[in-house]
Amino acid sequence: MLKLIKDDIFIWKGLNKNQIEKTLFLINKSKHHSFDNISFTDWDLEFSKEYWNFLWNECLLDFKKSFCKNFNCDDLIVRNYWFQKYEKGDFHQKHVHEGCHFTNVLFLENSKTNPTNIINYNIPKKYIVDGTILSFPSYRVHESKKHNFKKNKTIVSFNTDLYKICNSSPREIKYKT
Ligand SMILES: [Fe+2]
Repeated sequence: MLKLIKDDIFIWKGLNKNQIEKTLFLINKSKHHSFDNISFTDWDLEFSKEYWNFLWNECLLDFKKSFCKNFNCDDLIVRNYWFQKYEKGDFHQKHVHEGCHFTNVLFLENSKTNPTNIINYNIPKKYIVDGTILSFPSYRVHESKKHNFKKNKTIVSFNTDLYKICNSSPREIKYKT
């Protein structure tokens, strides 16, 4: 289920325990390197990503459908995807995502300890739950603060575009203020 929580920020709930565990299993045997200040990520690595095939084809059908329904569009195009596993001391500096409408963060493991931080918006803690996706416009500046915990934090990030918004009967999009 997709839920608008603030302005143009959404939460989708969510993966079940088995889906989370299988995704983590596939990520843990996936190719990776360290990038910037993140110990394990497949950012910028080109290969067939089994964890993503599993997620998109078997777990995120409702996410895609809900997004299309909310924005009255024909399709939701995924531009790219990658995982990030934060070890103690890792962080991701403030940034935006270029060339896409939405940035999505799937919380997978220990996300509550050090959640994604969207600048100028405190995400209510009740929404930071493993298996949940946080979606926000890609121009919103965000970061992952220094991870000060022994247990790793793992997320999958992916960028999406809305495709063919139907203009014959546009749906009014209401924003919370
Ligand atoms: Fe990001």
